[in-house]
Amino acid sequence: MKFDLEKATARETYNLLIGLVAPRPIALVTSMNEDGQLNAAPFSAYNYLCTDPPIIGIGVTNRPTENFVPKDTARNIRRTGEFVVNVVTEDLAQQMNICATDFPAEIDELEMACLTTAPSQIVKVPRIHQAHAALECREHTTMEIGRSRIILGRVVAIYIEDKFVDPAGPYVRAEELHAIGRMNGLGSYVKTRDSFLNIPRIPYVEWKKGKR
Ligand SMILES: Cc1cc2nc3c(=O)[nH]c(=O)nc-3n(C[C@H](O)[C@H](O)[C@H](O)COP(=O)(O)O)c2cc1C
Repeated sequence: MKFDLEKATARETYNLLIGLVAPRPIALVTSMNEDGQLNAAPFSAYNYLCTDPPIIGIGVTNRPTENFVPKDTARNIRRTGEFVVNVVTEDLAQQMNICATDFPAEIDELEMACLTTAPSQIVKVPRIHQAHAALECREHTTMEIGRSRIILGRVVAIYIEDKFVDPAGPYVRAEELHAIGRMNGLGSYVKTRDSFLNIPRIPYVEWKKGKR
């Protein structure tokens, strides 16, 4: 099938794009409003974009209700300039999904999901205690594009539980972290447990020698 996105509805475009740009990592973002009220929500329009400086990007669509108001996460980040990306692993999948429920603003998603917090190293926003890794971020730029906000965050500190780091690199022991990814938006996720393919890069000199 072929689709002309100039003629497609927003829902059709969403369905197709998130089904094809997959699997996606999931950022369970903690943020705070000006009064220090904590918020948590997952976002899979998420990735790192560069490392020098270390920038990650998150796409937050406005709520499709009256006047397309920004979601709490996007509003908090614009107002306070800080947030934490908590890495979503298999053991946090159900709690992450609870945090995506459209609770009234005064309800603490973390409490509903039986999650607790731990202080961050640099930013005021806490990380999720049960998350095995977290990226502390300061807002670099928020771009308003149509009915979405694209948030670029500069990563200022990283937390990883010791057992998931090989200090020699340092490298993340990704085979043991068991991160999950989001697929097509119909509630499908992928596990990364026991599913790694190892494909070493081919240096050009080796390619020329015909070794591979
Ligand atoms: C796995 C997962 C990924 C999601 N990714 C996004 C996303 O990339 N962008 C978005 O706007 N909403 C996304 N959502 C929906 C938000 O999490 C949801 O709208 C949430 O209620 C927003 O909360 P907030 O208003 O507290 O920020 C996702 C939901 C789930 C379950």
